[in-house]
Amino acid sequence: MFSKAVKIEQRVEEGKGITTLRFPMDAKVRPGQFVMVWIPGVDEIPMSVSFIGALAGITVKEVGEATRALSSLKEGDVLGVRGPYGNGWHLPPGRVLCVGGGVGMAPIMTAAEGIADRTRVDVAIGARNAGEIIFEERARRASDDVRTTTDDGSYGLKGTVVALADQMMKVKRYDVVLGCGPEIMNRYLLKACKDNSVPCQLSLERLMKCGAGLCGSCVIDGLRVCADGPVFTGEQVERMTEFGRWKRDDAGLRVSL
Ligand SMILES: Cc1cc2nc3c(=O)[nH]c(=O)nc-3n(C[C@H](O)[C@H](O)[C@H](O)COP(=O)(O)OP(=O)(O)OC[C@H]3O[C@@H](n4cnc5c(N)ncnc54)[C@H](O)[C@@H]3O)c2cc1C
Ligand code: FES
Repeated sequence: MFSKAVKIEQRVEEGKGITTLRFPMDAKVRPGQFVMVWIPGVDEIPMSVSFIGALAGITVKEVGEATRALSSLKEGDVLGVRGPYGNGWHLPPGRVLCVGGGVGMAPIMTAAEGIADRTRVDVAIGARNAGEIIFEERARRASDDVRTTTDDGSYGLKGTVVALADQMMKVKRYDVVLGCGPEIMNRYLLKACKDNSVPCQLSLERLMKCGAGLCGSCVIDGLRVCADGPVFTGEQVERMTEFGRWKRDDAGLRVSL
């Protein structure tokens, strides 16, 4: 397993409050896996690997103290990286629809690139507004059919990415849908896939401490998101009574989403 202090070699602002940091990582990573990132003096948090290869990358959206500190790091600064962790996507043969909401595009993009056949992967990108749409050009290099939506209509179609995915499933045949985004998006995407009888895999998020299956802070209905996930099948997610309703806080208490 990779566990090192690494120097940031590249910093790219992808969108409003969304930044990619690239660093050397000598480890084999599968699309959909994540790393635990230690920001010296602040915290250690999970981040999907958004670029796979010798110059690996993470793409961070500022939501609180740790993500703000991470985003403010510059080229030449140092951060701790351990991993990769988690199962990653199961990329089957056949036609795939990748659906990413906001920074959920980070693990979705590595899936689209992992398929390596632009004719059998379509990508639906959604965000709250134009400034938060990320990786569109990159998606166009990996897929023949890339569509975008924004909640406020400032870019692409106006509406949710789930409505777009639902429309695409109605006119094209897909063998699997891969989804990552806010839990509410995942919840409605699961329903849309069920309505269209298309199997899906969803990447879930929970608060993580060890990242390695030991502490239990990420458990959802008895499954550890860090070790049994973060990617779960639609059938697994449907059986989760806590999905879309509850998460655990820092003290391990169940709080409403
Ligand atoms: C497997 C995995 C992969 C992730 N990949 C990415 C990524 O590629 N890019 C990215 O920007 N973020 C990603 N995240 C989310 C990221 O880890 C959290 O946003 C971060 O830990 C928040 O830390 P903070 O100190 O900035 O904010 P905090 O102050 O800790 O939290 C801000 C808000 O986010 C909520 N929150 C914090 N952590 C989580 C979590 N894990 N799940 C759900 N809600 C949470 C808090 O309850 C609070 O409402 C991922 C999370 C997981 C579990
Ligand atoms: S974060 Fe410790 S078990 Fe998942």
